[in-house]
Amino acid sequence: MSCPIGLFYGSTTGNTESVAELISEQIGFDKIHRIDIAADGLDSLSEYEHLILGIPTWDFGELQEDWADMWTILEKAELQGKACAVFGLGDQIGYSEWFLDAMGLLHDRVQEQGAVMVGYWSADGYNFEDSKALTEDREQFVGLAIDEDCQHGETQGRVQQWCQQILNEFGMS
Ligand SMILES: Cc1cc2nc3c(=O)[nH]c(=O)nc-3n(C[C@H](O)[C@H](O)[C@H](O)COP(=O)(O)O)c2cc1C
Repeated sequence: MSCPIGLFYGSTTGNTESVAELISEQIGFDKIHRIDIAADGLDSLSEYEHLILGIPTWDFGELQEDWADMWTILEKAELQGKACAVFGLGDQIGYSEWFLDAMGLLHDRVQEQGAVMVGYWSADGYNFEDSKALTEDREQFVGLAIDEDCQHGETQGRVQQWCQQILNEFGMS
């Protein structure tokens, strides 16, 4: 029997990987398959009705390298009607003008493929210049915003709260 949730992530220095593990722990390892796209790619994306996608931003607003390598696959993915939440990692002080941009790019890409997006997250409590991951009214991020460089102490609580939220939105709580 397949798992109800597929969590796909790319991670260059391991921070996104650690957050992916925290999310799996919080949701329950039996309910989630964790897939490092550098090792296993995106082939199994279509097997899941509920998706969580994790991406850090690199190099002044760019996609993390593994996601960049697989972008054309994503452009062909059939995600019609699938429920999808994104989470992103970035550095709001070091890269304040590009904070979490890649999460915004990934959100827009999968939404264009037909996914129903959940997991929006208040932008209160962050301090940055600009981000492509904000909603139009700039009050929310389009997914969970994590900053291991500047706000490591917030991560555990943010992950816990967000996991409750998305389980509700997935209709699984
Ligand atoms: C060279 C470099 C460029 C970065 N560029 C950005 C950026 O444009 N925007 C941002 O929010 N964070 C940026 N970051 C911060 C990373 O996204 C952050 O450290 C993240 O936790 C890395 O995740 P990973 O370990 O999963 O690769 C950058 C970090 C480095 C070292």
